[in-house]
Amino acid sequence: MTESTTIRWEQDRTGLVTLVLDDPNQSANTMNAAFRDSLAVVTDRLEAEKDTVRGVIITSAKKTFFAGGDLRDLIRVTPDTAQELFDGGLEIKRNLRRIETLGKPVVAAMNGAALGGGYELALACHHRIALDAPGSKIGCPEVTLGLLPGGGGVARTVRLLGITDALLKVLLQGTQYSPQRALQNGLVHEVATTQDELLAKARAFIDANPESSQPWDKPGYRIPGGTPANPKFAANLPAFPANLRKQTNGAPYPAPRRILAAAVEGAQVDFETAQVIEARYFVELAAGQTSKNMIQAFFFDLQAVNSGANRPKGIESRQVRKVAVLGAGMMGAGIAYSCARAGIEVVLKDVSPEAAAKGKGYSEKLCAKAVSRGRTTQDKADALLARITPTADPQDLAGCDAVIEAVFEDTALKHKVFQEIQHVVDPDALLCSNTSTLPITALAEGVERQSDFIGLHFFSPVDKMPLVEIIKGERTGDAALARAFDLVRQIKKTPIVVNDSRGFFTSRVIGQFINEGVAMVGEGVEPASVEQAAAQAGYPAKVLSLMDELTLTLPRKIRAESRRAVEEAGGTWDTHPAEAVIDRMVDEFGRPGRSGGAGFYDYGPDGKRAKLWPGLREHFTKPGAEIPFKDMQERMLFSEALDTVRLLEEGVLTSVADANIGSIFGIGFPGWTGGVLQYINGYEGGLPGFVARARELADRYGSRFTPPALLVEKAEKGERFGEG
Ligand code: NAI
Repeated sequence: MTESTTIRWEQDRTGLVTLVLDDPNQSANTMNAAFRDSLAVVTDRLEAEKDTVRGVIITSAKKTFFAGGDLRDLIRVTPDTAQELFDGGLEIKRNLRRIETLGKPVVAAMNGAALGGGYELALACHHRIALDAPGSKIGCPEVTLGLLPGGGGVARTVRLLGITDALLKVLLQGTQYSPQRALQNGLVHEVATTQDELLAKARAFIDANPESSQPWDKPGYRIPGGTPANPKFAANLPAFPANLRKQTNGAPYPAPRRILAAAVEGAQVDFETAQVIEARYFVELAAGQTSKNMIQAFFFDLQAVNSGANRPKGIESRQVRKVAVLGAGMMGAGIAYSCARAGIEVVLKDVSPEAAAKGKGYSEKLCAKAVSRGRTTQDKADALLARITPTADPQDLAGCDAVIEAVFEDTALKHKVFQEIQHVVDPDALLCSNTSTLPITALAEGVERQSDFIGLHFFSPVDKMPLVEIIKGERTGDAALARAFDLVRQIKKTPIVVNDSRGFFTSRVIGQFINEGVAMVGEGVEPASVEQAAAQAGYPAKVLSLMDELTLTLPRKIRAESRRAVEEAGGTWDTHPAEAVIDRMVDEFGRPGRSGGAGFYDYGPDGKRAKLWPGLREHFTKPGAEIPFKDMQERMLFSEALDTVRLLEEGVLTSVADANIGSIFGIGFPGWTGGVLQYINGYEGGLPGFVARARELADRYGSRFTPPALLVEKAEKGERFGEG
């Protein structure tokens, strides 16, 4: 290899060398084999021609500066190929170190996003200037993919910012900073507003610093804020693992602990050794299952879902101008805010002007908060609020090209509100319902244009929750589906698409999780252990507290309706052991959940959750009923995963990516699993291992754990979900 294929060498007459990152085979520059070889070539040349080189600018010809490690390669790393990854990474690091210690000034002219390996490359430069362009994010998000920055990122941020700031600001949260915020937090030295200014600033630095080196290569350098060698610092050290445990709730996320270890161990040795320590931990994480799960979900599946793998092809995209939101309650108010934030005009209708104004008040509160925290300007907030018109008059809905209904969960009422407005809005307006449980096909019967009717299921709180579940009714047309998809993207949320069924995907599957937790209380297991098991499995909400939030009367209502539907169709209803517990809680003890002031928990007069209701132990808990902790966790995880497979069999779900993304972003399935179907792929022993374990759970806890035929068949064929 004597030629650099991905890094272009440009040299002017003054001896200024610009290294232009420009991979001819990809839209972004990544740390692939061609980059590694090209870096070796330019490094050799810089050393050989050192006397004629005055300084070096590293920049890119792509929209992004440098995208970092190639995730397609990383997801394939196995313990057998880990050494190769380690050696390749070490070669890149060695060459970056040679450039860093050349004695010539090296500037990163970051013309676009520099995340992960991209920011690590910039860290090896003496001076970092970021172009303030849209999408120019800066930081080390590796932790969000179950990895750590293994390209010198731990060693250098620790030396740049000190252990504490490196961990908190860069490494443990994976924060992606705008250029301005990167500047405020010490990640870059300067920000430029134009490409010309970027290069001019880079040249100015080189002119002013003919000899340059990193702070950590200067004599007498000490890591800012101290190291474990300092007794005062060492005394604070135990707080870190304790905080980490709190952050992850004890759930199996290996990356934060390895990052902490790499930072602390690396701070006590020389730079070269620190890089090797970091590389060892990086390779260990890359070869493990959790990073594969997280890369699959948070990169590949998310990309598939957002890019419209499920959007009908050949239908031109359309933007909504003016949306009618029917019902200004909790959901309607949040939907109105999210639409107005995306620049859409909103008419927010409720039964009275006061109720509608109260719904708009929610946006007023959110805007005031955003202004006070510096997240938006007063002008922008005023413009957002001006886009929301509260009303009780159906005639005000004239000119709306989309409708989102969010009135009470009642079919007759939903039919009535659509009838009232269907001739007022545009004659081809998209008609959406935010129902969380009612079948869309039956709701569509209340309108004349059934092919334009579709489910758009938001999650609470709408302004924070990134997912929208789009539900296609039997008569929903492809054009409506495409428009619904475009609307969800227009408001910058992530759409999954499912076919109609009671509870769709998300509401039905989260019901399994809750039922399983409640059933264990009924079996006599300590309620506190049930809560602990959910938290340690990585669920963001404990199971009994979640039941209280949703109210215990809700599953009863859904059960009654579902049971009627099953029996009308000639089937028999499978009673779940949770049902008896819920019935007793409501009928015998009068504890319907948080909104009723009492549920599995006691609540204070202010509505705040106080403690688990002591009566649970008295009425349900049995000595000796404890079951292994692993069984408790896996009963919850398996109940959701198995029902998801049944939804694939039934054709409600049609894509694995939708299932994975919907489960993590909609219903809190633990992120370390990579989503509900990736959990099955990644289970110990793969699909056959999962099937065997499901059978074991079925023997011990009930036939609801019997693996569905689709799962057994895939396991026998050696397939995984997402393949075959
Ligand atoms: P809510 O009770 O907070 O709000 C319903 C609103 O509809 C009230 O303001 C009520 O005055 C209004 N309304 C009633 N009749 C009306 C009419 N004829 N015209 C206009 N407005 C009318 O209920 P929430 O929680 O906002 O739920 C609304 C819908 O969203 C339901 O279908 C629910 O199943 C669904 N949903 C709820 C979620 C939640 O977490 N609460 C999550 C996802 C969907």
